[in-house]
Amino acid sequence: MCGIIGYVGCEPQSNQVLLDGLKALEYRGYDSAGMAIVVNRDVRVIKTRGKVANLEKKIEDLHLPSSVLGIAHTRWATHGIPNQSNAHPHQHGMVTLVHNGIIENYGELKELLTKQGYVFESETDTEIAAAYLDYVYKKSFDKKQALQEANKAFRGSFAFGIIFADEQDTLYAMRRNSPLIVAVGEHERYIASDVPAILKYTKDYILLDQDEIAVLKKDEVKIYTLDLVERDYEVKTATMDASAIAKDGYEHFMLKEIHEEPRVVKDTMHAYVQDDIDQLVASLPDLRKYQQIHIVSCGSAMYAGMIAKSLIEQAARIRVDVEIASEYRYKHPIYDVPTLVLIVSQSGETADSLAALLLAKSQGVDTMAIVNVIGSSIAREAKYVAYTHAGVEIAVATTKAYCTQVALLSLMALNLAYVHGHVDKKQANAIIQEVQQLPEMLEHMIEDVQYVQAAKIISRHNNVFFLGRGLDYALCMEASLKLKEISYIHSEAYAAGELKHGTISLIEKGTPVIAICTEESLYEKTISNIKEVKARGANVILVVREDFNVGDDYYDYKISVPKVNRLIQGIVSVVPLQLLSYQVANLRGCEIDQPRNLAKSVTVE
Ligand code: AGP
Repeated sequence: MCGIIGYVGCEPQSNQVLLDGLKALEYRGYDSAGMAIVVNRDVRVIKTRGKVANLEKKIEDLHLPSSVLGIAHTRWATHGIPNQSNAHPHQHGMVTLVHNGIIENYGELKELLTKQGYVFESETDTEIAAAYLDYVYKKSFDKKQALQEANKAFRGSFAFGIIFADEQDTLYAMRRNSPLIVAVGEHERYIASDVPAILKYTKDYILLDQDEIAVLKKDEVKIYTLDLVERDYEVKTATMDASAIAKDGYEHFMLKEIHEEPRVVKDTMHAYVQDDIDQLVASLPDLRKYQQIHIVSCGSAMYAGMIAKSLIEQAARIRVDVEIASEYRYKHPIYDVPTLVLIVSQSGETADSLAALLLAKSQGVDTMAIVNVIGSSIAREAKYVAYTHAGVEIAVATTKAYCTQVALLSLMALNLAYVHGHVDKKQANAIIQEVQQLPEMLEHMIEDVQYVQAAKIISRHNNVFFLGRGLDYALCMEASLKLKEISYIHSEAYAAGELKHGTISLIEKGTPVIAICTEESLYEKTISNIKEVKARGANVILVVREDFNVGDDYYDYKISVPKVNRLIQGIVSVVPLQLLSYQVANLRGCEIDQPRNLAKSVTVE
């Protein structure tokens, strides 16, 4: 996902602020970077392919002085390959801007602008947006009117940081669907894609709503609705500080964040229940009336939803459908019974998940969001919101946020089981007592269990299989994604009973198969499937509940996990799989925190 940072202040310190901001946004994933600053009344644009460090060196080599006004950007390529020409900022006439999102109707706008004599250098939709804003601005030389007209002309999503050449002490911004905040210093104002980018300078920020325009000067912020009516705003204060975006001695953010799991899972669960089920009922929305739940998400968030499906359907006997957001938004969902559409999203900005939420709302269906970022777009659009408390997650591959999602969804399952009378108060409170031991168990899984041997087995291969049934199959989906994301090994997660219907043909001598076996009612069946692959030469790494007796001739390496209440079994079992993937990626020398091609949150379709 692209990163945006902008600065306007009394001191000429643009270069440091912009580079600090881009570095704090690097975790989002990108392939090129650039900035625009005002130098001797010129709006100078400097861009590079590759890392922010390349941009920093270019600025040093050019001896570019700092300015009181500047914008900067890290680009995750959508339209056009990652190169310097396609990097942002883009400049046409009076307008220089950076953009996160997609202008879907850029083709028709390009035709119109070409007829007006505009010539384009890049392959990007963003350059079209810059030219169009210049075109409409020159009609009236009224900036807010021009932004209003451009907003109405643009279809798709955008977060813009904009400099007009004829107003060199003012920073403009406008957003729709893509995230953008305004931040407030003493005699400085900032825009940023999210809070970590400005934490070094201020914790005070303002949320921009859909289609709003912000006009920033060093000592003031004005926010306008699309009708150009100025509105009041609330200045919020971020709870995190700059240490949240530091590695604290860990080699990678991913490892740091796995080690934070005991604390953030405890924080998340304690936010909803301490020791009594009635606290949980009071802390969540009343969901009794819903006869079906659609959990609509992407990637790991969706796999957390798969665990929730297994838990809710078994504990509360309510139908749960887990849907891929990018499919759901185009499939004309059926709402023939009272339905809750539940969006799970760490960032709260994933475009497909947001679109699915807006689709449900347009159909008059109740929506709920489980998100980690306070005030994110999905959080603001949903009827109900329940926050996870994972803190800032920097590594692109989610670990602690996923665990807090599963923890919160597990509590939802318990809540639904209780309010629908499937467990009584005494039983529910006994389960609550049991889940209190979760943080300690996670500590044990992180500190005491070794994964290097198993990692060595896997790291030498380019094809790996994960097998499991029920809850374990949902875990396989997440574990397989983790391995793929950071080690670039192709892996497939398979329902253990399904493998023999074709794909078992791919099993040959030495093929690594990671079998997850914690479901009491299914483990003998899974063992049978393990025998099938073992008989064909597979190298089996078995993740198994410590009280299950499994012959040691059925596996080559075993990772034991403790027996816990089924509600939290998934969280305990996923930790060794996260660490295993981390070890494999390390052995393969991969870029773990910012894997190639990936973005921390995909705010484009
Ligand atoms: C998981 O490691 C990936 N980063 C990715 O699958 C992610 O979970 C997905 O893009 C959804 O992101 P969200 O939770 O911010 O909506």
